[in-house]
Amino acid sequence: MHSTAPNAPLPTTRITIGELAQRSGLATSALRFYEREGLIRAERSAGRQRRYPRTILRRVAFIRAAQEVGLSLDKIRAALASLPDGRTPTKADWDRLARGFRRDLDERLAHLTRLRARLSACIGCGCLSLQSCGLYNRGDRAATRGPGARYLLGEVPGESD
Ligand code: FES
Repeated sequence: MHSTAPNAPLPTTRITIGELAQRSGLATSALRFYEREGLIRAERSAGRQRRYPRTILRRVAFIRAAQEVGLSLDKIRAALASLPDGRTPTKADWDRLARGFRRDLDERLAHLTRLRARLSACIGCGCLSLQSCGLYNRGDRAATRGPGARYLLGEVPGESD
């Protein structure tokens, strides 16, 4: 069994933002951004410096993984908020959340597949005709949905035409 000398310093249970940046591979600016967005929370030392529990590394890894698959910060925030006491996701949490994320990914993949099919029809054309281009805005039917290229913004023709 491992023992500690009587006068040895206690193991540090809190890490600085610099240590978190080094261990997570993220810039301190990214970590401060996560904090502003309510994704992570720091305690403050007596000198008002950020201190994080070591378990924050797993939480940051979760956020990075979720961002990597394209989930919005709102969805990531909601997923983390669903955990009791704002805890760091456990393996069981991750399994449950990943199942929810998978549905989201499947929907986005289906959307991209539809866009790819339309893009194939447009390759070599380039007209982006309001009347005939299915990729851009066939017949301008999307005009009532708002400005811009509605189908490229994620809307699907025919769903509410
Ligand atoms: S760019 Fe011409 S039909 Fe889409």
